Amino acid sequence: MNEASQTKDFYGRDFLITPDVLIPRPETEQLIDQVLILAGKPYLPGVKSTKRVLPQKPIIIDVGTGSGCIAITIKKELPNAEVYATDISEKALKIAQKNAENLDAPINTIISYLLEKVKSRELPTPDLVVANLPYVDKNWDWLDKESLSKEPEFALYAEDKGLKLIKELIKEVVELKIKHLILEADPCQHEEIKQYAKKAGLQFKETRGFIIYFSV
Ligand SMILES: C[S@@+](CC[C@H](N)C(=O)[O-])C[C@H]1O[C@@H](n2cnc3c(N)ncnc32)[C@H](O)[C@@H]1O
Repeated sequence: MNEASQTKDFYGRDFLITPDVLIPRPETEQLIDQVLILAGKPYLPGVKSTKRVLPQKPIIIDVGTGSGCIAITIKKELPNAEVYATDISEKALKIAQKNAENLDAPINTIISYLLEKVKSRELPTPDLVVANLPYVDKNWDWLDKESLSKEPEFALYAEDKGLKLIKELIKEVVELKIKHLILEADPCQHEEIKQYAKKAGLQFKETRGFIIYFSV
C-alpha cells in the first residue's frame, strides 16, 4: 500500500484505510451493537440478553462497504453469518478485500449499485441489510468541509438533503421483502427517514445514536 495508507481502529480491530475509502467513525460502531442485539448476542453494558430475531445462520449484506469495517466486524462477531459486502467503487472493494484477508474474515465482496445484484439474483436475498451510505447534505452550515476533504466525495455526500440513496435503498428493501434494515444517518434526518420508511411499508423499531433499525 502507498504512503497515504494508515490504519484505524473499529470495534477493537485495525483497518487499513486509504484515500479511496471513508475513515470508519465511532458512531458506526453502534450499528454493530444493533446487529448483535438482533442476533441475541449483545455486548452492551446494561443489556444482558436479547431474543434472537435473526436466523442462526443469517445472510447479511453490507451496502456501501468502503473499508469493509462493518461487514468484516459482523463476520468476526458472528462467524455463522454469510456476509456480503457491496460498493460502487472497485477501489474501495479492493481495500475491503485486503482488510478481510488481514483480519481472516471470509466475506464476499461484489460491485453493486445498492441492491441491484440481489434484484438480478447474483446475490441471495438477505435476512438483514445494513448500510452506512453517503448521507451528508452539502448545504449543512455546520460542515467542516476542510476536514472532510481528505475523503472521497462519493462516500460522503448525497442529493435530496442527503437522503437520496437511503430512500432508494428503503424502496428496494420493501420490494425485495427483506425483513430487517439497519441504517446510519445523522439524527437530524431520522424523523424524515422514519416517515418515508413508514409510507413505504417498514416498521420503525429503534434508534441508537446515529443508527435506525426497521423491520417489516
Ligand atoms: C459513508 S461511506 C461508508 C463506508 C463504510 N461502510 C463505513 O461505515 O465506514 C459510503 C460508501 O458507500 C458507497 N456508495 C456510494 N453510493 C453507493 C451506491 N449507490 N451503491 C453502493 N455503494 C455506494 C461509497 O463508495 C462508500 O464506500
